[in-house]
Amino acid sequence: MAVDMMLELDTRYVADGRLGGHALPEADVKALQPKVASILAEIAAERKAGRHRFRELPHERPQLAEIRGIADDYRGSTDNLVVLGIGGSALGNIALQTALNPSTYNLLPANERRGPRLFVLDNVDPVHCEAVLSFVGRNWSRTLVNVISKSGETAETSAQFLLVRDRMIRALGEKKARERMVVTTDAAKGTMRKIVDQEGYRSLIVPDGVGGRFSVLSAVGLLSAAMCGIDIEALLDGAVAMDKVVSDADPAANPAARIGTIHYLYEQRGKPMHVMMPYSQQLKDLADWYRQLYAESLGKIRPSDGANVGPTPIKALGATDQHSQVQLYREGPNDKVFTLLEVEAFDCDPKIPQAFEGIEAMQYLGRSSRGTLGKLLNAEKAATELALLASRRPSITVRFPRVNEHTVGQFIYLYESMIPIMGKLYGIDPYDQPAVELGKVLTFHFMGRKGYEEPPKEIQPK
Ligand code: PA5
Repeated sequence: MAVDMMLELDTRYVADGRLGGHALPEADVKALQPKVASILAEIAAERKAGRHRFRELPHERPQLAEIRGIADDYRGSTDNLVVLGIGGSALGNIALQTALNPSTYNLLPANERRGPRLFVLDNVDPVHCEAVLSFVGRNWSRTLVNVISKSGETAETSAQFLLVRDRMIRALGEKKARERMVVTTDAAKGTMRKIVDQEGYRSLIVPDGVGGRFSVLSAVGLLSAAMCGIDIEALLDGAVAMDKVVSDADPAANPAARIGTIHYLYEQRGKPMHVMMPYSQQLKDLADWYRQLYAESLGKIRPSDGANVGPTPIKALGATDQHSQVQLYREGPNDKVFTLLEVEAFDCDPKIPQAFEGIEAMQYLGRSSRGTLGKLLNAEKAATELALLASRRPSITVRFPRVNEHTVGQFIYLYESMIPIMGKLYGIDPYDQPAVELGKVLTFHFMGRKGYEEPPKEIQPK
C-alpha cells in the first residue's frame, strides 16, 4: 500500500472573497494559532504522561495477535457475524464495513465474500432485532456473536445479549452456544467481565482509558473488520501515517488543528451546524461515526461559566441529498459550515453508455472521457461546492486519493485527534458524556430495575 497515499485538506472555500461576510479570513485563523500551538504542546505533554490513550492504539496495537487468532479460528466455520453493541461499540464497526467492503457484501455467495455476513444490531428495535435473529437463527451453529460493551452495563447491549444467548442455547445447547460467543469488554470492571469469567467466554479487551467513540482502532472495531477480510494492519498503518501529520506542533501545518480552528471559529460566529457530506456511498457511515464523535465529545456545559457549547454535527450524502437537503443548505439559515468528502479515484468507475442520438439530455452523460459515474459524482460535488459558495456558504474538502484501509485509517485518526484540540478550545472535557446518564437512569426506572423505584430528582414535580 502506498504510504504516500495521504488525505488532502482543501480549505480554499473558507477564505474566498465571494463568501463576503461569511468568509473566515486567514488572518483570523492565524490570530488563534498561538493559542492552538500551546494546546498542541499541552496535548503532546499529556500524551507522554499517559493521557489521550486512543492516540497510542495504532502504535501499540493491543491484542492484535488475539484478534487475528480469533478471526482465523472462526472464519471458516462462520457464515454470520452478529455484533451486539451500541454507540461507540457499534458505529465504527458499521463505518469500516461500509467503507471497505462492497455495499452488496451480505448478499454475495460465501465464495465471493471475504468472510461471514456482518450484522451490527446497534439498537433494541424489536422488529429489526427479530429480523436479524430469525435470519441468522436458520443456522446458529455457523453464527458467531461478538458482544461489545466497554462498561459492560449498557441496557441495550445487555438485552440483545440475553435474547441472543437464549436463542443460541435453545438451538445449540449450553456448551456449543458458549463456543460461538466472543465478548469485548473492560479487562476487569463491569457486569460483562463477570459474566465472561463465569461462563468462560472467549474475550477481548477494550483498552484502559479509551472511550467508546475513540475505540474503533482497538479490538472493538478490529475483530469484525478482520473477520470480514479487511486488512486491519493497513488500517492501523494509515492511522500511524496520520499521527505524524497531526503531531506537528505548528498549527499551520497540522490538519487536525486547522479543521478544528475553522470549525471552532465558525461556530463562534453564528455557524453552529457542521454538515459532513461524503460524495461516496462507501464513506457515508463514516459521517455517522463522525456525528457521534463530535456530538458526544463536544456538546457540553462548560464548567468555567456554565455555558452550553458545541457544534451540531449533521450527516448528509452526496449526490443523494442534493435532492433532499441542498435547498435548505443554500436558502435556509446561513448557520452551517460544510465538510465535503471527495474521492479522486474510485475502485471501479463504469462508463456511462451513449445512446439516443439526437437527444442531448441523454447524450452528454456518456460523452468523452468524462462520461463515467465517478466523474459525474465528482462533477456534482464540485457543483455543490460552488453553489454553496454562490449562496455564501463556506465549505472545506477532505480528499481521499482512493478509499482503502490506509486512507480510512487516516481519516479516523484525523477526526479523533481533532477532538481534544476542540475540547480545549471550548474549555470542556471531550471524554465524558454526563448528559447521557439521566436517560439511562430513567430507563432503569421504567423497566423496574431494583434500586431505581423512585424517578430521579431531576424530573420529579416541584
Ligand atoms: O462513546 C461512548 O462512550 C458511548 O457511545 C458508548 O460507546 C455507548 O454508550 C456504549 O457503551 P458501552 O460500550 O459501555 O456499552
